[in-house]
Amino acid sequence: MIIKYLGHSACYIEEGNFKALIDPFLRGNPQTKSRPGDFKQLSHIFVTHGHGDHLGDTLEIAKQTQAKVVSNFEIVNYLVNQGLINVHAMHIGGRIRLGFGTVKMTPALHGSSILDDGRMIYAGNPGGFVIEVAGKKIYHAGDTGLTMDMQLLADEAIDVAILPIGGNFTMDIEDAAKAVTMIRPKVVIPVHYDTFDVIKASPEVFRQRVEEAEVVILKPDEEYRF
Ligand code: NI
Ligand code: MN
Repeated sequence: MIIKYLGHSACYIEEGNFKALIDPFLRGNPQTKSRPGDFKQLSHIFVTHGHGDHLGDTLEIAKQTQAKVVSNFEIVNYLVNQGLINVHAMHIGGRIRLGFGTVKMTPALHGSSILDDGRMIYAGNPGGFVIEVAGKKIYHAGDTGLTMDMQLLADEAIDVAILPIGGNFTMDIEDAAKAVTMIRPKVVIPVHYDTFDVIKASPEVFRQRVEEAEVVILKPDEEYRF
């Protein structure tokens, strides 16, 4: 399996025919060289919540690749109104078997709205995803504060947890380290830091704080294979 970090919260995951983007914020993302047009073959796009740095270039990439967009009911309805057909709506707590394996939507302590021409559109509750493919489980937390709900994820036996550490909008280093203690993943990849001044954080300091898991620090556009 390949996990490629595209900067901010955006990740590309590949395992066989499963080629997926999570939160594909590329065009306005100063951390990545990846562009929406780079993705010719894509099976799925997962969107954790409606904020522009997560919904990102979903519409454009989905239109060019026909990838199935998986998100909450409200965001999927917004995207259908924008012309998308290949979608799957789900919601927090729900798990579904799709072609590649399973996906469960998890809670996130955050907001979710879509800014459309200066109008604020309701985009449901924010979430994260537990994605199981080829017997491996990846948890992408989305944007979230530290929450006791994360204790429930220990039962999932997560292989790789992708957690925000940048603070201000999400968990900071201290809280993300507490999240690792609750989630107990084998590997954790820190994300959602250094994109903007207000979310500056040191992934090396995060690594020092975490004892229960291996911390894999990826530079934007770098890959982790396992
Ligand atoms: Ni957000
Ligand atoms: Mn964000």
